[in-house]
Amino acid sequence: METAAGVEACLPIRSDMDLVWVRQHVRQAAAQLGFGLVDQTKLVTAASELARNTLVHGGGGRMEAAHVVRGRVNGLRLAFADDGPGIPDLDRALTDGYTSGDGLGMGLGGARRLVHEFAIDSAPGAGTTVTVTSWAVRPPHPREVV
Ligand SMILES: Nc1ncnc2c1ncn2[C@@H]1O[C@H](COP(=O)(O)OP(=O)(O)OP(=O)(O)O)[C@@H](O)[C@H]1O
Ligand SMILES: [Mg+2]
Repeated sequence: METAAGVEACLPIRSDMDLVWVRQHVRQAAAQLGFGLVDQTKLVTAASELARNTLVHGGGGRMEAAHVVRGRVNGLRLAFADDGPGIPDLDRALTDGYTSGDGLGMGLGGARRLVHEFAIDSAPGAGTTVTVTSWAVRPPHPREVV
């Protein structure tokens, strides 16, 4: 069973400076929940790309972060939401190399590969919410192996 365990936060995504706060918050929250350095970096990189999409394509929005628990495993769930134009074709948007602007078109697909769970809720004219979750799955400490 999965439960929400609090540590909820809502950060605005309105400027390049806000992207810095988002990265910092995700790094800190992931570290606190026991994510290793590599897993922290994966989640921060995904969050950075998704927050940039919220800003650039969605016209600004917010990130909501929540600590979730499944069994004994801690997870960090991040939702990037905007009230922008929405994504008309999700498959195309997720295709590596597709961009409607002048980006590389690698952000969305790249972010999906960096997290454990990935979902997009979007419709033309109705905004976009991308929700990702990663779990702090740690190998057992050598002392705990029998
Ligand atoms: N929040 C959003 N609102 C509306 N459209 C979006 C949103 N996020 C992504 N998209 C659409 O999906 C496309 C692909 O996104 P992706 O992040 O992969 O590439 P990009 O942002 O164009 O370039 P970059 O490689 O710099 O991230 C975007 O070009 C845009 O059309
Ligand atoms: Mg992008």
